[in-house]
Amino acid sequence: MNRAILIFRSKEGLVDAALRRWLNAARDALKSREFFSAALSGGNTPAPLYARLAVERDFPWHNTHIFQVDERFVPYDHDENNYHFINTSLLRHVPISPKNIHPILTFEPSPQASADRYEQDLTSFCKSFRMRVPRIDLVILGIGEDGHTASLFPDTPALSEKQRFAVAVTPADPSKKERITLTLPVLNNAVHVLVMALGKNKAGAVREVVENDQSTLPASLVKPEKGSLTFLLDEDAGSLLSDKKRFISR
Ligand code: 6PG
Repeated sequence: MNRAILIFRSKEGLVDAALRRWLNAARDALKSREFFSAALSGGNTPAPLYARLAVERDFPWHNTHIFQVDERFVPYDHDENNYHFINTSLLRHVPISPKNIHPILTFEPSPQASADRYEQDLTSFCKSFRMRVPRIDLVILGIGEDGHTASLFPDTPALSEKQRFAVAVTPADPSKKERITLTLPVLNNAVHVLVMALGKNKAGAVREVVENDQSTLPASLVKPEKGSLTFLLDEDAGSLLSDKKRFISR
């Protein structure tokens, strides 16, 4: 695995870097095959990246497949629905074919049924392109203060999933919504993973994930075996790293 850590003095710099990585990942993927695939997180952090992508008119959207990293089990029009957010901030503004959009649909009777349906979609994608496990070109992740990423929360059974591509998750905190998430076998089969983190409240989790080889936090388990893992951090999120000066990006 190829790992990089970059700290940006401005949020614009961080978003520029994320956009550059997206464009490069697509260019590289399209050199060897006819499509580029990306899996997108919800949360606040990637919103400026989606806004920038939404005006990338010349991007090969017709050859792009978009997946979701995770979803809360709430209806599409709920303000915590990730697909609603991704759709309104990005997808509806670009000429992507609906058949290349792979949402996690929450109108199924249960989170498990939603996860099963998403798994079927991922399985047919694999069949169409002769893959055993989805090999997504670019996965955009965030990180929570507790070290969660996607909807992989500390001490939950989803972390030890080895076979399935998507599972339902019940967060330990009962005030939190049930979720559906991509599993580690899919995240760790990606070509590139970008972890974006902004703010002081992320600094502790970022330090643990970046510096502790033995960490069992969910975000520490994301290690794309045949791929790259890049942390794009603002100065606050990177503020507790011991060697932070080394990572400042100019
Ligand atoms: C989601 C993601 C979650 C998110 C982190 C960070 O909320 O949809 O599943 O993993 O990326 O919680 O969230 P922020 O970007 O809002 O800080």
